[in-house]
Amino acid sequence: MLIKGPGSPELSERLVERNDLESVEVNSKVFPDGEIYVSLSDDVEDKDCYLVQTTYPNRRLLELFFIQDAIIEAGAKSINVIVPYFSYARQDQLFESGEAISSRAIAERIQLQADSFYSVDLHSEKILDFFDIRAVNRSAMRLLAVHSQLHNPDILISPDEGGKERVKVAADEIDRDWDYLEKKRIDGETVEIKPKNIRIEGKKVVILDDIISTGGTMREAARQLLEQGAEEVHAGCTHGLFVGDAYEKLDEICDSVFCTDTIESDRSDLTVAPLFEELF
Ligand code: R5P
Repeated sequence: MLIKGPGSPELSERLVERNDLESVEVNSKVFPDGEIYVSLSDDVEDKDCYLVQTTYPNRRLLELFFIQDAIIEAGAKSINVIVPYFSYARQDQLFESGEAISSRAIAERIQLQADSFYSVDLHSEKILDFFDIRAVNRSAMRLLAVHSQLHNPDILISPDEGGKERVKVAADEIDRDWDYLEKKRIDGETVEIKPKNIRIEGKKVVILDDIISTGGTMREAARQLLEQGAEEVHAGCTHGLFVGDAYEKLDEICDSVFCTDTIESDRSDLTVAPLFEELF
């Protein structure tokens, strides 16, 4: 029984169709004071339930917790939580004393009412250690690599060193060169990317990252590569948050921008549904 979380209606439907599953809709509404209400549209008693719900924006996170509670309350046999985009993953440790480890707080809440947890391109694999239940991270990088072939890239590039293993996986999948740039974050919206000696002149480049949030990282990476003579620059990521004016920022410099349906938008051109097929 697939429970279609209101944060992931299209991905849920794709999973239902591909795997010929029964499904249940979730009603969700917001009261005038901002409180959220959820209810299941059908009975899940004694069913093995797979809940699909992304966690961006914050409303989706609260809905996730409440839907888990509704499923337990309705007497489900098991509850398996698929969180296509796990938010707060960048706060996976103490960077300064006095902080919260936000991703751990979320993991602990999820596992109070779940038998297993699945996600896609967690920003940090460390998050898996916060779970005592079965916790699995799938990578969308091979899917992004195959999609990148539409642009016939010569090389795939990570905008920072942290993403180099991801990009290597993608490049190996389609037998292309890969490299990474040197990024320094100045603040939440600004990054500095140093020129690096990559032979890029006249080449078609796809930059791949796990997350596009404000678009600052991608824009700066694209700018550097174009300055160094790249012929085309495309930007792809798993999780497209596109905060504020991210579309405008990226559209004025990149030849195309694409992402998966871990967060659904008009840019989520490819689906992560194949990553979960073996569950059903
Ligand atoms: C950071 O380490 C991530 O991999 C992304 O590069 C980052 O979250 C992108 O953020 P923004 O789009 O705001 O630059």
